[in-house]
Amino acid sequence: MAEKKLLRALAGETLPTPPIWMMRQAGRYLPEYRATRAEAGDFLSLCYNSELAAEVTLQPIRRYGFDAAILFADILLVPQALGADLWFVTGEGPRLSTITDQAGFDALKPADAIHDHLAPVYETLRILTRELPSETALIGFAGAPWTVATYMIAGRGTPDQGPAHALKAENRPLFEALLERITEATITYLSEQVKAGAETVKIFDSWAGSLQGEDFQKYAVEPARRITAALKELHPGLPVIAFPRGAGERYEGLHKVIGADCIALDDGVTAEWAAKHVQPDGCVQGNLKSSHMVTGGQALVDETRRIVKALSGGPHIFNLGHGITPDADPENVQLMIDTVREG
Ligand code: CP3
Repeated sequence: MAEKKLLRALAGETLPTPPIWMMRQAGRYLPEYRATRAEAGDFLSLCYNSELAAEVTLQPIRRYGFDAAILFADILLVPQALGADLWFVTGEGPRLSTITDQAGFDALKPADAIHDHLAPVYETLRILTRELPSETALIGFAGAPWTVATYMIAGRGTPDQGPAHALKAENRPLFEALLERITEATITYLSEQVKAGAETVKIFDSWAGSLQGEDFQKYAVEPARRITAALKELHPGLPVIAFPRGAGERYEGLHKVIGADCIALDDGVTAEWAAKHVQPDGCVQGNLKSSHMVTGGQALVDETRRIVKALSGGPHIFNLGHGITPDADPENVQLMIDTVREG
């Protein structure tokens, strides 16, 4: 069944050269992305314009022939669908209305009331299933409940997720109710993405690393486990990628406790360490430092080769450790791909 290279790696196959795609592969480093975003008006309008969102998803596939396309959307569309106000401040990032008390929580919509709002996202996926090359896998995604909650509580990105940690300490029942609502919404959102054509889904827990001790287990691992189990029950055989960024040594054993087919690695662990401690349990994805896409040169080639070699003994999907940045040089992306595929 699984002919596409990405799906073969997710199924546990060790391939002669790893499939490759890149977090934020449709993004501001590409002139064609900037042109389409200008045509849409702004970032959120682009997310909700299915034709244009499909177009920017396809742009890096056309330019580079990546083995996978990732749906163009954002993890913060879910809070918006639950009723939060959301806008983006140019050069700064997202802003949301905050949830700090019971009244704010009570104003949220139920988890299953999000689909009208998110219908354009499902339409983007349907367009992509028709337009993607047959060898390109289609990845859906959502934010993990903890990461999404950090934005809903603070109303913006925060360096240390302070407001979310504070709410967790001061009003744990409210904090847990919010995580529960996001978890339920995420299950139904990702299930609709699969029905619309996503062949695998990735759960982005960008701020998992700031959860300490038992909190990591309760608020990063457990929600990811529940989402994965629910999706696999609804869609038997669906491969799931989990990205608990900043997990460090806690990456070890996560395939098993989450039930995920693939664990995505940031650049905080070495590929050699991951080959020994994480890859024996299943596919790993990662983990080149994004800054190489800015600096390029021999260091990019050497690091790419080192990662490919270190992880060549098991299932591996080549990727960056985090999203590509707007100042990256598109030629460095080509150099990375050529290096991965030289075999
Ligand atoms: O990877 C992809 O190409 C798919 C699309 C995608 C975007 N955001 C598009 C985007 C995905 C998977 C995301 C995930 C996302 N969004 C995360 C988790 C991954 C991570 O980066 O840690 C988070 C935390 C967000 C929230 C978000 N969206 C922030 C904090 C920002 C502003 C920071 C920035 O890079 O500008 C965004 C904006 C955003 N999301 C852009 C893109 C292409 C840039 C917006 C623009 O065009 O101006």
